Amino acid sequence: MFIPVTEALKSNGKTIKIRGWAHRVREQKGAVFIILRDSSGLMQCIFKDSEEAKKVTIESSLEIEGVVKEDPRAPGGAEIAGTNIKIVGLAERFPITKDQSEEFLRDVRHLWVRSQKLTNIFKIRSSVFQAIREFYTARGFYEIQSPIFTTNACEGATTLFEVKYGKPEKVYLAQSWQLHAEALIYSLEKIFTIAPSFRAEKSRTIRHLSEYWHHEAEVAWMDFEGMLKLEEELVIFVAKYVLEKNEQELKALGKDLEELRGLKAPFQRMTYEEMLKEMGKKWGDDITDAEERELVKKLGNKPIFLTHFPREMKAFYMKPADKKTVLAADLLLSGVGEVIGGSQRIDKLEDLTEAMEKFGLNKKDYEWYIDLQKYGSVPHSGFGLGIERLVMWLTGSAHIMDTIPFPRTMDRIKP
Ligand code: 4AD
Repeated sequence: MFIPVTEALKSNGKTIKIRGWAHRVREQKGAVFIILRDSSGLMQCIFKDSEEAKKVTIESSLEIEGVVKEDPRAPGGAEIAGTNIKIVGLAERFPITKDQSEEFLRDVRHLWVRSQKLTNIFKIRSSVFQAIREFYTARGFYEIQSPIFTTNACEGATTLFEVKYGKPEKVYLAQSWQLHAEALIYSLEKIFTIAPSFRAEKSRTIRHLSEYWHHEAEVAWMDFEGMLKLEEELVIFVAKYVLEKNEQELKALGKDLEELRGLKAPFQRMTYEEMLKEMGKKWGDDITDAEERELVKKLGNKPIFLTHFPREMKAFYMKPADKKTVLAADLLLSGVGEVIGGSQRIDKLEDLTEAMEKFGLNKKDYEWYIDLQKYGSVPHSGFGLGIERLVMWLTGSAHIMDTIPFPRTMDRIKP
């Protein structure tokens, strides 16, 4: 029976079998040193006088049998004195060596996904999905899905991906589940999802993908304050979960654990107007993504809710807070900037009609959405969180492309 490397490392004196891939290979004085990698970790295996071991190339797949010996000098504190080795798949010369450009590594992404760095990030990413599900399940939410093919723009027409659907009306890939989610709260009340969203983003930044994973929540009877509280609890829960499950991976990635350990609610808040003063801007100015990161840094690298944006800067469905601003909040996190965008929604028919006119939307395109306001509408709020941006923050990654196995941007669709 094969055991994981992490278990083998703790099996001092025992004869065990492991299998995986040759992460490193070197020959010295007739002995072959193979660092074997499986999904759990790395372990050094030493073969003396083995012709088979001498044939091993980097990334060959192997089955190894041997005796575990504790050795503080070995990676992981133990190594294997190999007695048997079987090459399952002999690898050709592996194209990835040290010091290759980011661009090249993206071209060979199908092989680069084996790297320690990406493996660590993907393990944390996996924990994030688990954590989100645990968080909501414990709070009585239902996980529910909305369609990917849609005729409605949720977040403005400029980033829509149109698809050939063979219908007279235009069909797009969903930017968000929100509009359909608003129909589902009348029966399920508290709902969430994790699904892909699509944005034809023209901007080339460190945090924009054209296909990303979107966690969204929508809650009946929840107001703006309730929404901010839910977001705080979620972010703290996910950070704690990852700290517990992935301390080893976080450390290997060089993440500042104190930043995650020190998270406390309530998060700082700043209105759009206060942000203008802080950043020396004037009414109507937007905040760029680099400026968001600068602001978070300036205020001590702690999470910040930016709230009460001018209505015309945000989406049509947001409930006005006063004549000029809406009950919207972006949650900014260090090294990334906006990770969550949320709002209280308009919940009256006449307000929605007014908003659609103001935003120049064709009511015919949103007939079913407008209908929702006619049958027992209630106050409700919700938000969307970019999974990759959250993973960027958790792992301290410099680029969003590192947080998803096969990134899609306007420039890259392969591999
Ligand atoms: O702020 P956004 O556009 O909000 C919505 O889509 C709302 N309908 C969500 C809701 O209220 N249910 O997007 C939400 C989040 C952003 O804060 C960001 O983290 C992420 O989605 N996001 C992207 N992530 C990666 N690449 C992109 N191009 C992204 N666009 C948005």
